[in-house]
Amino acid sequence: MDILKITDTAKAMVADNKGLLAMDESTASCNKRFAALGIPQTEKARRDYRELLITTPRLSQFISGVILCDETIRQTKKDGTPFIKVITDAGIIPGIKVDAGEVDFKSHPGEKIAEGLDGLAERLEEYVKLGARFAKWRGEIIIGKGIPSKDCIEANAKALANYAILCQEAGLVPIVEPEVMMEGDHTIDRCLELTTEVLHAVFNQLNLHHVALEGIILKPNMILPGLDCTIQESIEEVADATVNFLLQSVPANVPGIAFLSGGQSYQLASARLNAMNTRFKGKLPWALTFSFSRAIQQPALETWQGNRYNVEEAQAELFHRAKCNYAARRGEYDATMERS
Ligand code: G3H
Repeated sequence: MDILKITDTAKAMVADNKGLLAMDESTASCNKRFAALGIPQTEKARRDYRELLITTPRLSQFISGVILCDETIRQTKKDGTPFIKVITDAGIIPGIKVDAGEVDFKSHPGEKIAEGLDGLAERLEEYVKLGARFAKWRGEIIIGKGIPSKDCIEANAKALANYAILCQEAGLVPIVEPEVMMEGDHTIDRCLELTTEVLHAVFNQLNLHHVALEGIILKPNMILPGLDCTIQESIEEVADATVNFLLQSVPANVPGIAFLSGGQSYQLASARLNAMNTRFKGKLPWALTFSFSRAIQQPALETWQGNRYNVEEAQAELFHRAKCNYAARRGEYDATMERS
């Protein structure tokens, strides 16, 4: 394992106050978002949209890496230039989502497990040849009546660790993404309790599998009340709950923590990240940044609407959200930025 190369990539992914653009939605998820806006759910429309994202002028000012999916890593611009070349020429690090999505977790109704470990080593080898330098695997933990079970938490943690060591052996930085979902009416305390249990299981498994922690990026959820919970804590309370929990749960040699947005509004996602970086400035052992999909792409997608005449305006929206989140990473985001 070339640990120096891996740790250099991991550091570069969170360097210079930048963050990651997650554009790794599966075909089904991408189609769902297109359908909601009346955009055709075709391979051509998905390609056009992803070309719009990666050709956004000056995106690398704020974005260090982009997460692609299997369809996108093989695509080219309309002029035939491979997406991977466009990304690397822009000075952005390309990565690839490698889990094959969630399936029902055996004999545990309502719970999910990510699949994709079969043949993963061979797939990683191919992605490396295509130019990927990091990978991503998401394990989904659903909060509900009587769930999650310990079995589901443990199985997802094991899968994440199996994936992570295979990535490092292939020379890729694994983004380790255990996501405790926001859907539901649970309290912030329940989210904290479960996320603590989940991260404990994940780091235990990473250690058992001899994953080098200095060569991973952790992609967790923030500590939040469920979307339907009647009590919604303030931005500052969320920031404190999240960072205090991370300080107790994440070893200091992990180079970076890059949050998913999970269904928060894009303004709240930026404001919460900003509050964390403001209130804990100079006190954090790891970089605290973003790896958003919906909270960075949504305004661009809504502006584009599948219309080629809207491309420039949509790119301006993506650029703006990237700039807001870059500011949040520095603790310099302000809601007045939204008016510009
Ligand atoms: O796996 C999920 C994505 O990479 C992050 O998506 O920011 O919309 O939660 P999200």
